Amino acid sequence: MSLQLDRSAFGNAAHKGNTLTREEATALFEEWVLNPRLQLHMKQVANLMKAWAAEKENLGEHDQWRWEMAGLLHDADWDQWPEQHCKKIIEELESRNVDPEIIRAIASHGPAHFGVEPETNMDKMLYAFDELSGLIHAYSLMRPNGYEGMDLKGVKKRLKEKSFAANVSREDIEDACRRANILQDELISFIIPRQAQVA
Ligand SMILES: [Fe+2]
Ligand SMILES: [Fe+2]
Repeated sequence: MSLQLDRSAFGNAAHKGNTLTREEATALFEEWVLNPRLQLHMKQVANLMKAWAAEKENLGEHDQWRWEMAGLLHDADWDQWPEQHCKKIIEELESRNVDPEIIRAIASHGPAHFGVEPETNMDKMLYAFDELSGLIHAYSLMRPNGYEGMDLKGVKKRLKEKSFAANVSREDIEDACRRANILQDELISFIIPRQAQVA
């Protein structure tokens, strides 16, 4: 099964800045994503994207929502149409005249799978948060107190343990950090306390 998108342009520049409303995005999310575990993953990534936009990019409310929306919908078609991931959500957002930057971020959240290179900071951070967020959540589930008391050292230990959350690509995590020009430690330290809020 190939998920290659075979294209490099997304959306329409005339729709720059357009978003779905929070209500519209939530309706789409709830209609398309039925698996509660996947829902949680998408909400966690959404929260990290919003936090990064606010704290690291110093963006205002509208832009924070653009980042959050990219996170919230990045895997929207994975549950019911995995063979069309992420083609289907991209086409849906294009048909709804959504900001091309949001669509592009979704299209580049797995360059090895979709064949689209992350370019903007939004692209790069979505790619960087995606796998690492999943690994950290898996770790929280095996700890007696979840996120409470979780530290960088523990996460790094799990990262080195290839059998732990084996479906999480360590290569992708390294590749994403390199592209975003962020130290893995820094990213993990950013994620732990913020993800604990959406667990
Ligand atoms: Fe995905
Ligand atoms: Fe994801």
